[in-house]
Amino acid sequence: MSIDFGQKERTAFDLSGKVVVVVGAGQSPGPGMGNGRAISMLAARHGAEVVAVDLNPAAVKETVELIVAEGGKAYAVEADVADKDDCQRIFDTAMATSGRVDGMVYSVATNPPFDFETNSMTVENFNYGLNVNMLGCYHCNLFAAQCMTKNPGDSTGSIVNISSIASMKNEIGMNIGLMPYALGKCGLNQITEIAAVQYAGDGIRVNTLMLGPIDSVLANRDTQELFGVDADEATERHNEVVKLKMGRGTVWESAYAALYLLSDESRFMTGQQLRLDGGATLVR
Ligand SMILES: NC(=O)c1ccc[n+]([C@@H]2O[C@H](COP(=O)([O-])OP(=O)(O)OC[C@H]3O[C@@H](n4cnc5c(N)ncnc54)[C@H](O)[C@@H]3O)[C@@H](O)[C@H]2O)c1
Repeated sequence: MSIDFGQKERTAFDLSGKVVVVVGAGQSPGPGMGNGRAISMLAARHGAEVVAVDLNPAAVKETVELIVAEGGKAYAVEADVADKDDCQRIFDTAMATSGRVDGMVYSVATNPPFDFETNSMTVENFNYGLNVNMLGCYHCNLFAAQCMTKNPGDSTGSIVNISSIASMKNEIGMNIGLMPYALGKCGLNQITEIAAVQYAGDGIRVNTLMLGPIDSVLANRDTQELFGVDADEATERHNEVVKLKMGRGTVWESAYAALYLLSDESRFMTGQQLRLDGGATLVR
């Protein structure tokens, strides 16, 4: 704990010299921006080298191009987090290319296909959803921590797992389509707490960034598909979740919260859920 945060000249939230792996750094196809892309761009603007990981090679390439165009450092890794070996390969690549890992953000999610009429889902699809939303999170936490323990000093790394208030409540509706997502996020919340205790002695912090309704491509598309509603109705449902009438958040608000959790400024915080939800879980 040798950094003096009281220094007037100090640059706040400085990630220079750090390597940050953002899993889910591409984004679902469609207009707008995703949380993982915004987090990647902001981390790079604050000096990090970003290892941008996603299942979608075109989307993650675009994220890297956006960062490089701004003068930042980043490279892409294509991987499916439902596959343990792919998760391992992400961190092997980061170590081989960058020599270290200081931060990891797990910003992946999926809603597997389901039958809207019969409100049912195949076992394969259900399990795939849990593998992506939860098991992949466990593997990425584990492999990230194994890299971070190699860093010198007492503050060796920061892991940020992106969760959702769908793990606590559901007011946009509920059907089987959302189950692997909601259950996966419950598991992710627990992974954070257990990993925080497990890795504290190695100087690794693990926190959950729990998001409420954020205006992202995935949220807009999946809400329409899950509940069979049009874009306006989907927006209305999201707005109704926030009873305090704060509307919806933007991916940049998520990115600044992630930046705080990644940076040394949050070095005394671990095992917590930082809720960015316009008070949605406060007043229901
Ligand atoms: N947008 C919201 O309202 C909201 C609310 C709560 C939580 N979140 C969380 O924010 C995170 C990012 O979501 P987003 O809304 O920004 O959407 P997004 O589409 O930008 O991000 C999801 C990314 O995950 C990738 N992905 C999906 N399956 C994958 C797999 N098997 N392997 C690797 N990558 C895979 C997708 O290609 C996509 O790039 C998710 O964890 C989501 O649950 C979003």
